[in-house]
Amino acid sequence: MIKKNILNRSEQSSWLAIFMTFVASLGGFLFGYNIAVISGALIFIAQEYGLSAAGEGFLVSILLIGAIAGASFAGFLADRWGRRSTILLTALIFILGAWLAAAAPNLNALLLGRFICGLAVGLTSMVTPLYLAEIAPPHTRGAFVSIHQLAITVGILAAYILNYVFSESALWRWMIGLAVIPSAFQFVAMLFLPETPSWLIEHRKTEQAVRVFSRIRKDREWERDIEEMKNLAPLDRKIKWSTLLKPEMRFVLAIGVFVSLFQQITGINTVIYYAPKIFQIAGFPSVSSAILATVGIGVINVIATLIAVWLLDRIGRRKLLLIGVCGMVISLLVLSAAFITQSQAIDLIAIISLMAYVSFFAIGLGAVTWVLISEIYPLRMRGRAMSIAGFVNWISNYLVALTFLDLIEYLGSGGVFLIYAAFGIAAIWFFYRYVPETKGKSLETIEASMLKKSKRSGE
Ligand code: BGC
Repeated sequence: MIKKNILNRSEQSSWLAIFMTFVASLGGFLFGYNIAVISGALIFIAQEYGLSAAGEGFLVSILLIGAIAGASFAGFLADRWGRRSTILLTALIFILGAWLAAAAPNLNALLLGRFICGLAVGLTSMVTPLYLAEIAPPHTRGAFVSIHQLAITVGILAAYILNYVFSESALWRWMIGLAVIPSAFQFVAMLFLPETPSWLIEHRKTEQAVRVFSRIRKDREWERDIEEMKNLAPLDRKIKWSTLLKPEMRFVLAIGVFVSLFQQITGINTVIYYAPKIFQIAGFPSVSSAILATVGIGVINVIATLIAVWLLDRIGRRKLLLIGVCGMVISLLVLSAAFITQSQAIDLIAIISLMAYVSFFAIGLGAVTWVLISEIYPLRMRGRAMSIAGFVNWISNYLVALTFLDLIEYLGSGGVFLIYAAFGIAAIWFFYRYVPETKGKSLETIEASMLKKSKRSGE
């Protein structure tokens, strides 16, 4: 029975759809690679340019500032020009940024290159899940979109491995510059791939949409989806930002915003950006053992995300979110207790609890956030609403990264992890109370039911 189910599911999409998923998800790979590569390159760059601690902090965070900007206008571009053109533009920006940073003749050029990479990271964080959600059949949409998260984790792991490999030499330009290869491949391949059917219908290009659907989906359910989309698409094409603040939109907007916020303020990036540092505080004997333990974190992150890809369309988004955040809170409490009581076994507890924490993040907030925000918004303003959620995601990412080391100084590691655990508890309450289950429903059915709920809560 299960086997038959799996067969039915894989038969719903064509090889073209699978190739489109691969090409689009290179954006996720570049997202993960770019955010993680700097942690290894930093040591050499700091030596070469004689950077102060504040200078190092700025070099790391400039990418996040670029990402805040990129995520803010991603939705507008994706709604106006289309998802495909936005991906093409993003690939070009990735190439430019990585090349400039790698070949930088001075510090300013390097900073500019990293800022440009950040723009592309912000853009891709929005447009890749959007593209994937709109080409996926409803029953496997969770798996399709979570390939984006899988690609992020593979990108992070690739960067961690290169950081380890290069930790003896000083080839930081290679570490940063290698990102040009997947970006160039993505650009060329995308030239041959189509726009999403949803965007085409939204722009009154129904015939083209039919052609794309018939090439990417083997089931005939898409014929019904087209009818539903045509009914939902607005007669008036001019969409205003203010529409997003109308009472009937507020509820659905708030869900995406809070899920994005909780993804960051429960502290994941303190581990992704600073894992070697945390391991050193926990008493790891050498820098290279701390970097190696970090590679272990990267591996666990990929494995747990693979499990999430498999589970999303089986047990659903809501359950995974709740299980994931509960696990994160428990891991954080254990870690915090070990730091506060200055346990003898702190190094062992640190590595076990951080691995558990990252795994629970991967199956919950990691995989589900991007899936949810790409499927809960109405088609006519999907891009823009996602941008708001994305903006909140990147700004909170930036603030957590900026404050982490200072907070450790003031509150000690135990205190800081306790704060992230408290945010986790708030997240459990919010998800339990408000997040709907979207598993297996078409985007159009989700749209209709979310708007109904929004209306009810606005009354
Ligand atoms: C988050 C990133 C995080 C990554 C870790 C993504 O979903 O948006 O902030 O670094 O997961 O795997």
